[in-house]
Amino acid sequence: MSKTRILSGIRSSGRLHIGNYLGAVKGMLALQSDPKYETFYMVADLHALTTPYDKEKFAEETRSVIKDYLAAGLDPEKSVLFVQSQVPEHLELAYYFSTVTTLAKMTHLPTYKEKVKQFPDHVTMALVNYPVLMAADILAYKAGLVPVGIDQEPHLEAAREIARRMNADFGTDFPEPKRFATKGEYVPSLSGEGKMSKSVEGSYILLTDGLGEIRAKLAKAPTDAGGPGKLPKTGPVANLFKFLELFKPQRLEYYTSLYELGKLRYSELKEELAMAIYEELKPMQDKRNKLTDEYVDEVIRKGAERARKAATETVTEVKQKMGLLI
Ligand code: TRP
Repeated sequence: MSKTRILSGIRSSGRLHIGNYLGAVKGMLALQSDPKYETFYMVADLHALTTPYDKEKFAEETRSVIKDYLAAGLDPEKSVLFVQSQVPEHLELAYYFSTVTTLAKMTHLPTYKEKVKQFPDHVTMALVNYPVLMAADILAYKAGLVPVGIDQEPHLEAAREIARRMNADFGTDFPEPKRFATKGEYVPSLSGEGKMSKSVEGSYILLTDGLGEIRAKLAKAPTDAGGPGKLPKTGPVANLFKFLELFKPQRLEYYTSLYELGKLRYSELKEELAMAIYEELKPMQDKRNKLTDEYVDEVIRKGAERARKAATETVTEVKQKMGLLI
């Protein structure tokens, strides 16, 4: 195998927001255009089943993430774009991996503990298995690099451990997958606390939001008196400045000095920020509007076919090496 393989995915719970875009999709875009890499990008619909979801809307949400991918510039000529549940080899591999993974390890992960706190009535086997399935997603393609946000690091560590165990016990040649970091890897919440998240209302701007929606969401973002003094390092105001850094870096110094002088008008900063964000999203929205359902369906069908071919090779090798009857 000459090219390094890349795999990444985003959970299909709802449309993508600018946190997904900066944290994951931008990295995915950079890698798909680099001839050193062979890129596989999926929608993680199976992972989305581990938390409560609406079965009436689910399929459409999955398709919507594929549309967001296409709108953002992921190109089916350059990348294999697919839906996780259409490549059942991931599930099969996850089962084999679960035989070398302890329950203790999985239940100690911070990501697991967070979900237990968030959804105490949904502590299922699927939730415990989340990192095992994610390891299968990555290792089915023997991917060495994974463009994802920093919050996914514990899951990558679990995938590396599984790779090591499999290689040691069964003589496979899985790489130890590393995270591919992007500049906007930590995109804060608009509400001022934590990171931007689909599950926190008022925290995110969607890739499909119009200028009016972006303005309204920014208007609700909390602020302070606007100085004078040192710019806070954490909290809502620090977050607004982080957005400025991400979307209008050339104005960071200007607004910082206004803050220090006590002369900052947040309405001005927010308007400039809204325009800058909208300018970045507008071309994607135009592209999204031109996508037909037939085209999107064809991309999904072809993607599954190509992904299955690659994943099946790995599954067959694993079965053989684990001593199963082929
Ligand atoms: N856990 C990832 C998230 O919450 C989604 C995901 C599933 C993923 N499988 C993956 C990311 C494989 C990278 C590689 O965003």
